Amino acid sequence: MPTKTGKKILVTGGTGYIGSHTVVELQKKGYQVVIIDNLSNSHKNVIDAIEKITGIRPEFKKFDLCDFNKTKSFFNKNKDISAIIHFAALKAVGESIEKPLEYYNNNLVSLINILKCASVFGIKNFVFSSSACVYGQPDKLPVLENSPIKKASSPYGHTKQISEEMISFFSSKNKTKSISLRYFNPIGAHESALIGELPIGKPNNLVPFITQTAIGKRDFLNVYGNYNTPDKTGIRDYIHVVDLAKAHIVAIERLFKNKNKKKHEVFNIGTGTGHSVLTIIKTFEKVSGKKLNYKIVPSRPGDIDKVWANTDHANKELGWKAEKNLADMLSSAWKWERAIKESEKK
Ligand code: NAD
Ligand code: WQD
Repeated sequence: MPTKTGKKILVTGGTGYIGSHTVVELQKKGYQVVIIDNLSNSHKNVIDAIEKITGIRPEFKKFDLCDFNKTKSFFNKNKDISAIIHFAALKAVGESIEKPLEYYNNNLVSLINILKCASVFGIKNFVFSSSACVYGQPDKLPVLENSPIKKASSPYGHTKQISEEMISFFSSKNKTKSISLRYFNPIGAHESALIGELPIGKPNNLVPFITQTAIGKRDFLNVYGNYNTPDKTGIRDYIHVVDLAKAHIVAIERLFKNKNKKKHEVFNIGTGTGHSVLTIIKTFEKVSGKKLNYKIVPSRPGDIDKVWANTDHANKELGWKAEKNLADMLSSAWKWERAIKESEKK
């Protein structure tokens, strides 16, 4: 059984989808974790699930990181924090177009508050959740970290571009070293099926929509077509959320060991392989034994055709590589959807 003895890490957004999987991996490695989350897009019972998986209950503080006084008072009482992993953000692309100021306010003010405290309280290590959406549709594939950053197509994506730049300027003038991880398309769930993605309302992303259709919550999946790809459906680099969680451990350890080559570094976190929507459906049908009801419909406004990562930089510098394949990702997502159904019966 792991013990709470290692360095203390603050995980903001730690009851969310990627944050909760990262807390599990941190605790498995012996780190002490304190979570801050306002539960705007997650549930407190995730803490129970993390405790069930790891045998350790992470410390949890519920408040909004946009509140500077509360954030500062938290740091005043927790002077032993060695690193921050900052997941907390709003993340729905479509909603950000409807409510731009809500997104700029939440994602940027919370980041500014955290960085101010990192400076005041001398926290030297900072990892940030960025996104492949900063690239838009790249001219060359696979996309490299130094590829051009295109004009953002949503306020959400714009907050990630601004955040990365803000962190980079901040790190250049402060003692805080930082790493931005650009996640491609995280899917799947922990093997225990005790934590996973919990979309509120109708899912926007492909895989929760597939699993909800297969379980009978949705009648059919709209497969967006007409893209510039061999089978006309979009191609993305899907990555298992547990592989993604592990990338955060190697990122903070790189900072702890001062192995970073710049004050702010950027890494693509994907598998390096792109899959079309039809491949995802075919693989899902195989691992679940379920026939999926779907319709091909016109393309989704604002969607790019295809993107997948060049992961050489992460492989070489972080010594990290995604290990799980598409079948692992989709079977874990399916197991999680069935676990949700079981819990809803109770
Ligand atoms: P999530 O919504 O499941 O988790 C984010 C958590 O942050 C939620 O629990 C939410 O309640 C919390 N939060 C939001 N604003 C807050 C605030 N002001 N104060 C305190 N807590 C706050 O999302 P996720 O999928 O786990 O994403 C985590 C991070 O990764 C986000 O920054 C997201 O933008 C980024 N990201 C996600 C994806 C993806 O496809 N899921 C891809 C690329 C990047
Ligand atoms: C994947 C593929 C769709 C739904 C979004 C954000 C991005 C990042 C991850 C946070 C595409 C197709 C989808 C459906 C479909 N999040 N699709 N029917 O668009 O790559 O990225 O989530 O940073 O910023 O933009 O992910 O899961 O929505 O779509 O055919 O009902 O599935 O066309 O090819 P996307 P997605």
